[in-house]
Amino acid sequence: MINYQGILNSISADCSLSKDRGKVATYIPELAKTDSSKFGIHLVDSNKNNFQAGDSETVFSIQSISKVLSLAQAMGLIGETLWTRLDVEPSGDPFNHLSLLELENGIPRNPLINAGAIVIADILVSNLKNPKSDFLQFVRNLAGDDDIDFNREVAASEKRTGFRNYAAANLLKSYGNLKNDVETVLDFYFHQCAIEMNCSQLTKAFYLFMNRGKCQKDKTYLTLRQVKRINALMLTCGFYDEAGEFAFEVGLPGKSGVGGGIVALLPEKFCVATWSPGLNTKGNSKLGMEALEQLTTATAQSIF
Ligand code: DON
Repeated sequence: MINYQGILNSISADCSLSKDRGKVATYIPELAKTDSSKFGIHLVDSNKNNFQAGDSETVFSIQSISKVLSLAQAMGLIGETLWTRLDVEPSGDPFNHLSLLELENGIPRNPLINAGAIVIADILVSNLKNPKSDFLQFVRNLAGDDDIDFNREVAASEKRTGFRNYAAANLLKSYGNLKNDVETVLDFYFHQCAIEMNCSQLTKAFYLFMNRGKCQKDKTYLTLRQVKRINALMLTCGFYDEAGEFAFEVGLPGKSGVGGGIVALLPEKFCVATWSPGLNTKGNSKLGMEALEQLTTATAQSIF
């Protein structure tokens, strides 16, 4: 038996001593208010045992982590036809880069960079009756928790300052890869990114990717094949131009967000979420990456 609780306690103690915690994201003004001293971690194993340490119950902005959940909902709605509008290759570029999008005629490299997630948002806007509330309900159902909600100030803050996302959406539109109008799609996208969760809720929402498509409450949302595809994308594209480094250091499929969250999983073993708002230069949580490296080293468990 692995002593997960002992390992999380020691990771959390180490992180609380860390002097270099990275920098909180400021390009979305509302996120700049986050307290950089926070650190939380939560792990749920395949027997639904829960272990946690630090600020694991404090909610934060999940930001790009939401891209995996919107992809999951879109896959469930339109299946493989999705791949006519998106590719599945790592970009090796920062999350908000635009040059490849132009070079590749408006087909985003993958659904986890901003341009790709905007195409997914467009698909959800086309296929859901009440897109924002239906997506929120999907996330609540996955996590089994109706307290999960949008932070509307964060969504409004990004709407005022998300110039690169407007550029990406307009570029997509110019190539015919956006069916709805730019404002509607970005309003949806900014809200999905502005969902707040704590580490515990995140492990519940991502449980199905560890558990062959079945959520904690035993309802099946995705086929095995869909789970395989989403986990492959998290491994190769979940950390932008640091996906290689994350696979090298940690060795798990996962996804980060500029709110400082990271969620990662070992299929059929565990799902883990960390939160520390300070980011490294690539936009991934500095302590979160270090904590997960310690976790897979101490447990000797990774996909490799
Ligand atoms: O579109 C943006 O820039 C943000 N809403 C999300 C970016 C993000 O979380 C990238 N993550 N590392």
